[in-house]
Amino acid sequence: MGKMAKIKHYWNKRDDAGKYFKWVLNYTKPYIPQLSLLLAFDLIATLTSVGMAIIGKELIDKATGGNLSELWSIIIIYVLIILASQTLSVVSELISVVVYEKFGFGIRKRVYRRILDTSWLDIAKYHTGDLMTRLTSDVGSVSDGISRTIPKIIKLFVELVVTFVTLAYYDLRLAIFALLVAPVAMLASVWLGRKLKYLTIKVQQTESKYRSFMQESLANILIEKSFCLEDYSEKRLTQLRDERIYWVLKKNRTNLFASTVMGLSFQFGYIVAFAWGAICIAKGSITYGTMTVFLTLVNRIQSPVLGLAQLVPKIITMLASAGRIIELQNLPKEEYLGRTIHPEHIGVKVTNVSFGYTDELVFDGADIEFKPGEFTAIVGKSGIGKTTLVRLIMAFTQKMQGSITFYNEKGEEMPASPDARNFISYVPQGNTLFSGSIKDNVLMGNKDATDEEIIIALKSASAYDFVMELPQGVDTIIGEKGVGISEGQAQRIAIARALVRRAPFLILDEATSSLDESTELSVLEGIRKWNPSPTCLLITHRRSVLQYCDREIQIVDKKMRDAV
Ligand SMILES: Nc1ncnc2c1ncn2[C@@H]1O[C@H](COP(=O)(O)OP(=O)(O)OP(=O)(O)O)[C@@H](O)[C@H]1O
Ligand SMILES: [Mg+2]
Repeated sequence: MGKMAKIKHYWNKRDDAGKYFKWVLNYTKPYIPQLSLLLAFDLIATLTSVGMAIIGKELIDKATGGNLSELWSIIIIYVLIILASQTLSVVSELISVVVYEKFGFGIRKRVYRRILDTSWLDIAKYHTGDLMTRLTSDVGSVSDGISRTIPKIIKLFVELVVTFVTLAYYDLRLAIFALLVAPVAMLASVWLGRKLKYLTIKVQQTESKYRSFMQESLANILIEKSFCLEDYSEKRLTQLRDERIYWVLKKNRTNLFASTVMGLSFQFGYIVAFAWGAICIAKGSITYGTMTVFLTLVNRIQSPVLGLAQLVPKIITMLASAGRIIELQNLPKEEYLGRTIHPEHIGVKVTNVSFGYTDELVFDGADIEFKPGEFTAIVGKSGIGKTTLVRLIMAFTQKMQGSITFYNEKGEEMPASPDARNFISYVPQGNTLFSGSIKDNVLMGNKDATDEEIIIALKSASAYDFVMELPQGVDTIIGEKGVGISEGQAQRIAIARALVRRAPFLILDEATSSLDESTELSVLEGIRKWNPSPTCLLITHRRSVLQYCDREIQIVDKKMRDAV
């Protein structure tokens, strides 16, 4: 795409601006009382400054007139007004901060929740760094727009109208002339707006890239060190920074150009007003006094219009950020059925399932049934689709064709859906522990588990002994991704976390891959003896596991079948 084409591409979504604006307003609704108060204070402050000027004039007149008693009362009023306006400005600043924080958190919480509610496969396409950028800086700029920019716009607009009306009172033609300049400014800002929107999106994209890089690099310091990548990574970071600076400067240049054009057009308006006044004086149709009022008012119309023009980039930034947040909100939400089946003796039937992440299918018309209480080993080459099968059963994606149905021995049935996760326990591949204590991690499986239940789960996962040897026992704090304990120990805690849930359907995806054979067998024995005995899917590459299974399933040729 050429540069202009790119800009056009972004701008063609022009009616998006309207949609984005509606979205922002929708979020603003709960804050309208606070915002109105803020606005009222701002307007009062504006009027007070005018009032002060009038009182100042009175003060001087009375002083020159030698009227001392009235002078004192005016001084007292003057002091009172100063106190009142200071109080107002303090209160208004406080409200503004509260609105900014509350509003920001309000959006952030909803977007965060929305990310959690999005179908996993769709959200997993975004880099965590990108999501973080949207949650922090994009939400921040929307919040700033609502709590600062929009009230300012309203204030400037009111100021503009008041000045215009006053000017019209003195000279209608001049007032209309001043107004004629406004559309010129608006057209200029709309034209520049297109470019600015494109540039703003670019800046935000490079910001996301830059953050994603840092986040990923910091999360993998060990790899950086192992492969001696420190210098290389620093260089990459500098490159990304340069890319960012390129777009930031470009955006700033456009901003500057915009405000210069705006400034010039109003200088021009001022000169025309000046010339107009001079001609009228020459003709004797106005007095010097009226001429002074003209110039003051034309000048005063300049400042709000210029102020408004300067806010255009801020609004564009806000709308572009809103767009990036809306993009997340438009991702398909997981569909809950709102119903479940009695969670005991659960089986699952996979019928004619086809699925691929891309056009390349992982499953093509696959059928299989896992009966209640059965322990099934699922084997197959790496990359063949074992984890994918689990994702389909867990309903982490909605793009599948065919059907997956859970059933129980009472004959109740339900399709695979997020609701089914209530009776499934899943130990995913890889290290999935959170920072915090071991107990906190196990409790994630079941928030209501008692200390005793935690101990039983740890024992069944063959984790109890090593946990007890740690200085703080179950209260031992582990770091991000289980830093502080070994890989195999982390796996056993993850299994305890799944067991404590007491779910009738258990899925272990290579959950014992880091254990030595005898520990692995004792973990599996613990799971087999687990009461109530779950239906269990064990994904494994190890033959030794098979002795604990009733059945072995193979994935071959995009289908599933019993191993022979
Ligand atoms: N999020 C994804 N997006 C696109 N393709 C994916 C994604 N996850 C997996 N795949 C592809 O789908 C296929 C099946 O992957 P899957 O993770 O199910 O394999 P697996 O049998 O679990 O392998 P392993 O034993 O190595 O864990 C692979 O070819 C893989 O490249
Ligand atoms: Mg896998």
